[in-house]
This record gives sequence, C-alpha cells and structure tokens, in this order.
Amino acid sequence: MENSYPMNQRRLRSSPHIRELASTVTLNHKKFIQPLFVDESLSIRRPISGMNEIYSETVESVLRTIESDVKNGVTKFLLFPVPGEKFANDFHFDFAVSVIHEIKSHFGDAVWLASDLCLCSYTSHGHCGILNYDQTQLLNDATVRLLTEYGLKLAGAGIDCIAPSDMTDGRIKAIRLQLDRLDYDYISIMSYSAKFSSQYYGPFRDACHSTPNTQNLKNRKTYQISPLNLNDAIDSSIRDAHEGADILMVKPSSLYTDVIAAIKNNTSKPVAAYHVSGEYASIENMVTAGLLHREPAHLETWSAVVISGADIIISYASRHAKDWINRMEV
Ligand code: PBG
Ligand code: ZN
Repeated sequence: MENSYPMNQRRLRSSPHIRELASTVTLNHKKFIQPLFVDESLSIRRPISGMNEIYSETVESVLRTIESDVKNGVTKFLLFPVPGEKFANDFHFDFAVSVIHEIKSHFGDAVWLASDLCLCSYTSHGHCGILNYDQTQLLNDATVRLLTEYGLKLAGAGIDCIAPSDMTDGRIKAIRLQLDRLDYDYISIMSYSAKFSSQYYGPFRDACHSTPNTQNLKNRKTYQISPLNLNDAIDSSIRDAHEGADILMVKPSSLYTDVIAAIKNNTSKPVAAYHVSGEYASIENMVTAGLLHREPAHLETWSAVVISGADIIISYASRHAKDWINRMEV
C-alpha cells in the first residue's frame, strides 16, 4: 500500500523529551552483572592488561571492591576464581570454595553471586576440560563429570548461580540433576549457551592464565561455536533451556546482536549479553587514544544489546551503570 503522507521521522528525534518518550527500551542498572577475578597466586591485586579499572583481585581486595560496588548500586556479580596451581589430574576446587564462602559470609543475600564454572584456569594445558592421552580431543563426558563435581562444590560453598562456560554437551542436564538430587534446587544455572569461538577473550585469558598451549589442539574450535554458524548458537541455546538452564547467554555480545535477537525469539528464558574482555578493551583503548568518549560509548553498546532483546547485561563497566544511566543524555 502506498503512503500518501510524507514520512516524517525527525519529529520524534527533535528534542530530548520526545526522544525519551519514543525510545523503545530503557536501561536499568538492576539488570547488570559485574564480573570479578580473584587469583590465588597474588598477594596484592594486579591490573589486567588492556582492561582499564579491572583487576585480578586477592581475597581481601575483592571484599573491598564488592563493598564499593554495592555502594554504587551493583548487587549482582559473576566470579572467576583463578587457582594458584594448575592440574593434570586430581583436581581440587578449594580456592573457589573459600572465595565464595568469604564473599557470602561477608555480604549474605545483599549480593547475588554467580560463579563461572570451567576448567581452563585449572588445567595445565589451558583447555576447558579433560583431554585424551595424545591431547588431540577434549573428552566430553569426563569433562562433564568433573564439572558436575565442581558445581556441587560451588553449591556447598553458598553460590547463588552456576554459570558453565565450557561448552561440552550435556553439562547443563548433568549439573541440574545433581543439584536437585542434593536439594540445591534453589540454585540457578546461567548457561553460556551461545558462546562463540572468539578472538575477543584475549585479555580474559591473560588474566586467568587460560590460553590453550597444546601442540595438537591449538584453539577451542572443537567445543566453542563457529562465528559462521547461527544455527548452532540457536540449537545449543534451545537445548540448554530444555536441559534446565534458567538464563541463556550470548557472547561476545555486541558482535552478535542478531544472535541475541534470534535466541530471544526462539526461547522464553531471560537472555544475558556478555560484553567480553576484548570488547571492553576495544572501547577503553579507543578512549585512551582519544578516539571516543567513554561513558556514551558504553551506554550506546548497552542500548544496542538491549534493543536486540537482551534482558541482562554482563559488563566490566557495570559498576558505573547506575551513575551513567542516571545522567544519560537521550
Ligand atoms: C572460560 C571463560 C572465558 C570467558 C568467560 N569464561 C574464556 C574462554 O572461553 O576462553 C570470556 C570472558 C571475557 O573475555 O570477558 N571458559
Ligand atoms: Zn574455559
């Protein structure tokens, strides 16, 4: 049908007031999660290369960081425990357990604490699970068994949410069944369900000492999703929802806003968008180079993932969300 009226789009852009009224989403700091790194090998906290304001924390320093974050309106956190030693076999998870225990005994239910569940900062080879003898394959079920054991340890330590990031098949179901069997039915699972095999995890891997270093299996392409395969991202997310994931996730977020939209449209679970270390570092390094303004750049990125359908944002700048959203210029 032909429209006989001239299409005027600029009327809705003509002042901050009407732009506010016409906007289709609003940002809310309550939807943000702040990642935290705690490294057993440190005696004082250490800045992470390329990641302005982000540190590998000690157990003592992370408590101070959380205290300050809570004052700035952050209540949800995603923990990355980095053990001081690497394992070939006989893994133990004592450090992660003690960090969670420490945080939850200090802050109780004032904070919601999720923990990443993966083995890449534990394994001597840097892969996300157990490898076969000649290190050519990541073994699916052996990895799932170990992750399930780890998940139960996190549960016992008082975690609120478990976030498996390894990308093996069947881990959500295995972890959910074990949690329920032991009456941890109240603990939620946030699955890294659409996790692409990405270059943008570089700064994170430096911080967690988790870059794969095997001769045969040089990268994570046999278990993380190909950037060329949208179907895999959708199928993996639907599968994880059926296996019991409470929250699904897309990462890297700002590169894959189409995937956020597709998963939002194909499932009825909340979708989290993880603006990963390399995406954060890209913005921060452009800021350092004087090429863009920090605050509106992060706000724009957050807006883009939210208009695509993200319900939850995991951002290294979450601790600024309340402040920045409050004074955001529309
Ligand atoms: C561990 C894990 C990674 C990230 C979250 N959990 C890295 C990887 O898979 O190599 C990336 C987060 C980021 O880059 O901010 N599997
Ligand atoms: Zn991993």
